Amino acid sequence: MADYDKYYKMENLFGDPYQELIDFFKNYKTKGKLIDIGCGQGRNSIALARMAYKVTGIDNSKIGIQQMLQISKSENLKITGLVDDIYHFDRYQDYDIVLLDSMFHFDKRDKQKETSLIAKIAEDINSDSLICVCIQDTGSKVMILKKTIENTKLDFEILNDSSLIYQYEDKESGHKSETKYCMYIIRKK
Ligand SMILES: C[S@@+](CC[C@H](N)C(=O)[O-])C[C@H]1O[C@@H](n2cnc3c(N)ncnc32)[C@H](O)[C@@H]1O
Repeated sequence: MADYDKYYKMENLFGDPYQELIDFFKNYKTKGKLIDIGCGQGRNSIALARMAYKVTGIDNSKIGIQQMLQISKSENLKITGLVDDIYHFDRYQDYDIVLLDSMFHFDKRDKQKETSLIAKIAEDINSDSLICVCIQDTGSKVMILKKTIENTKLDFEILNDSSLIYQYEDKESGHKSETKYCMYIIRKK
């Protein structure tokens, strides 16, 4: 059983996609192939497929993937769901957009693994492809993200580097919280 399987007993655990993410991708001209890395229950994958992106969502939570595919089927959307470890995935060059929402924390234990994944994605994607990272803007996380991209020495154009507030509601307790996030979107030159 994957870690998140138990949390996903709660439907739509993380709530709606950020309005800022929706606005960006609604206005982005090429509705190409997008991979949502660690898609969870598919809140972003579903929203993006509704905008005609051809979405693949990968997550090691079988329950999350099943929930996403159920909605996809009921709405006749184009979403492929993969139950797998994101650290085994190796086909980034097949996608026009790689989305990573709330996937990096850069804790001591995981920092090496996470920064290596970012560097791998940056190297593997083709020119003109995008990387979109939504990450908590607390402590040094955003700085580590940007430094990791910079260290690849690859040429990227920054399309979006903005702050947003993620409003989370714990549906069981009704407790609400707000977290500052950064949405960082870059295009490989
Ligand atoms: C904080 S949640 C974010 C979910 C989704 N990106 C969103 O914003 O709604 C992190 C997700 O990453 C998945 N995950 C974490 N490590 C993973 C791994 N090594 N392989 C596949 N999925 C992983 C978890 O199962 C969980 O669904």
